Amino acid sequence: TGDGLVDPFGRSITYLRVSVTDRCDFRCTYCMAENMQFLPRTDLLSLDELDRLCSAFIAMGVRKLRLTGGEPLVRKNIMHLVRQLGRHIGQGLDELTITTNGSQLSRYAEELYDCGIRRINVSLDTLDPEKFRKVTRWGDLSKVLHGLDAARDAGISIKLNTVALNAFNKVEIPALIRFAHGRGMDLTVIETMPMGEIDEDRTDQYLPLSELRADLERQFTLIDLAYRTGGPARYVEVTETGGRLGFITPMTHNFCESCNRVRLTCTGTLYMCLGQNDAADLRSVLRSSDSNYNLRAAIEDAIGRKPKGHDFVIDRIHRRPSVARHMSVTGG
Ligand code: GTP
Ligand code: 5AD
Ligand code: SF4
Repeated sequence: TGDGLVDPFGRSITYLRVSVTDRCDFRCTYCMAENMQFLPRTDLLSLDELDRLCSAFIAMGVRKLRLTGGEPLVRKNIMHLVRQLGRHIGQGLDELTITTNGSQLSRYAEELYDCGIRRINVSLDTLDPEKFRKVTRWGDLSKVLHGLDAARDAGISIKLNTVALNAFNKVEIPALIRFAHGRGMDLTVIETMPMGEIDEDRTDQYLPLSELRADLERQFTLIDLAYRTGGPARYVEVTETGGRLGFITPMTHNFCESCNRVRLTCTGTLYMCLGQNDAADLRSVLRSSDSNYNLRAAIEDAIGRKPKGHDFVIDRIHRRPSVARHMSVTGG
């Protein structure tokens, strides 16, 4: 496998996103229903199994690994896995990173840095404590803000992720830009994707980022940048703040043609696309043998079926999600 993993459309797969748990200590209204059914714990891969799988992907050409969830930092003993994976940095792996809701960051920031993590993404949809409690259903904003400080003090660069929601936070985006950029953080805004049943109506909350950008351009000067992280965001520089603002636009400007990633769930299922249902069961292959021979074949076979792209639609008539599984199963 000297050429690494290449899919049928000629895209090199160099980025693995791993959802280490589908559980979360929050229940963001656009992400989960209040009484979410989580996967049975007995189905979980052990941390050593996750390590073995990730190591196999790295040996096959993956250069960037992101731990997600759910909330990755609520998985028991997660730092054991982070430390194991950190050993690959510079030995095939360019970047190990996580996407977190920040609730446990003040506890883990230094250790994350010590394991080789230099950049993290933190979800933050509002700066108002009451609204924060509402959108997360019970989250404490001050904990997340302390987490951000702890990460910065530990030497970790931060990108904030904000899901743009019409009624909820559209008017707050300028304040989030100033907050992030004032603290040396990047910010990306994200179009809400129709994944999984939630209690609310996502169609009403959907805000096309073309519209948001036009709004922002009334008060900010946005200069397109060539800067890329290997993720889907397209960045601009905000002249007034000197900071970077990214747009993640799965709905209005699909970025599938440059897709470089696949995603692994905490039960060892590999999804080749966030917006499609086709998957490969790597858990049974992993458990069938101590040799990685069949595992490598199963991974190559799966990459050979990677679809061209998602077909998410905002269904204004039936208001049904395009994909039944929740974002928290595959970690975005
Ligand atoms: P970096 O670019 O490395 O900073 O990370 P990222 O933006 O790829 O990762 P992050 O976990 O911060 O994800 C931000 C948003 O992008 C989430 O809402 C993800 O669901 C979304 N996203 C990431 N990859 C894909 C993808 O392949 N397809 C779609 N539709 N959305 C994606
Ligand atoms: N659409 C878009 N983004 C979502 N996230 C969770 N659910 C959705 C959704 N339905 C975001 C989180 C986090 C990132 C990994 O995905 O806010 O920042
Ligand atoms: Fe948890 Fe993130 Fe989903 Fe919020 S968006 S419930 S923090 S996984």
